Amino acid sequence: EQINKGNYEHYMQKEIHEQPESLTTTMRGRLIRGGSCKAKTVLLGGLKDHLKTIRRSRRIVFVGCGTSYNAALAARPILEELSGVPVTMEIASDLVDRQGPIYREDTAVFVSQSGETADTLLAFEYALENGALCVGITNTVSSAIARHTHCGVHINAGAEIGVASTKAYTSQIVVMAMLALAIGGDAISSQARREAIIDGLFDLPNRVREVLKLDHEMKDLAKLLMAEQSLLVFGRGYNYATALEGALKVKEVALMHSEGMLAGEMKHVAYSKQQSVIQQLHARKGRLIVMCSKGDAASVSPGESCRVIEVPQVEDCLQPVVNIVPLQLLAYHLTVLKGYNVDQPRNLAKSVTTQ
Ligand code: G6P
Repeated sequence: EQINKGNYEHYMQKEIHEQPESLTTTMRGRLIRGGSCKAKTVLLGGLKDHLKTIRRSRRIVFVGCGTSYNAALAARPILEELSGVPVTMEIASDLVDRQGPIYREDTAVFVSQSGETADTLLAFEYALENGALCVGITNTVSSAIARHTHCGVHINAGAEIGVASTKAYTSQIVVMAMLALAIGGDAISSQARREAIIDGLFDLPNRVREVLKLDHEMKDLAKLLMAEQSLLVFGRGYNYATALEGALKVKEVALMHSEGMLAGEMKHVAYSKQQSVIQQLHARKGRLIVMCSKGDAASVSPGESCRVIEVPQVEDCLQPVVNIVPLQLLAYHLTVLKGYNVDQPRNLAKSVTTQ
């Protein structure tokens, strides 16, 4: 039943729209909102015997490819904040090429929807040989990563058929946010923050349901953009990953040049000055589309010619889950309008299992 398109025309479309449900499944049984005096906590069964080791590790290294790497990048700040452990990022092939430093005191987290990507597997074997604790985050229960890592978490997003990953991305971020909560433990200093994130997680499927209502707006935008040569996507902080992942989706399926950029690299200015970057791009006749939280349009938009996409505001570390949805919809509509195959784009495989 899961591998049926139902009322949708394409798998990618179906998988984008089923995110409120896939996120609910990802969190099922793992978030505990206790009674009046019981604290809110997270239970990740596959990790419980290893949490102490992870907390004591010298470093947490995220390893992945493509969308899975981007999901880890989105979760990195909250993991750093709650665990207090330094977190570094590795694209699997690059780690293997460099034979980069991995030590016994490290926790290496392998993120892979399929659990079978050749580069991620090679990086995993390399980390294992170097004595690191290896954690798998996959969507495929019987996959090599799921079976051979020391411990891990299944994202339980359900089968993902569309070659472009959508619902697995948002479920991966949610699992890594829960991982951050689990590693963060019960430190009093961060209790309020942890509880706010748990409340935010409970509410997330509804917020994603809300942002999916932008479907028609994103289709209109796709009509406006379909003849453009290039789409630059800027983001910073929690949404740097959104910029990379949004651009990746557009490249992967709409076959249009797109680049995700760290917004701070545009002018090397601090966040408070971001407004002036938007103004300058506007003054130089850049065709601007601004994505912002509901209610912020007036303060963010530089003028009437600028298109504004307003999304629901959620707890900061969960914002990437909401913000990627309009970009997934944009990539989808651009592809369909251009007449390309959205579920099996040219020259792209769902998972690359050979070298
Ligand atoms: C390929 C696919 C990407 C995917 C990446 C990682 O490059 O085309 O869409 O994100 O592999 O796949 P994984 O199964 O390891 O998450």
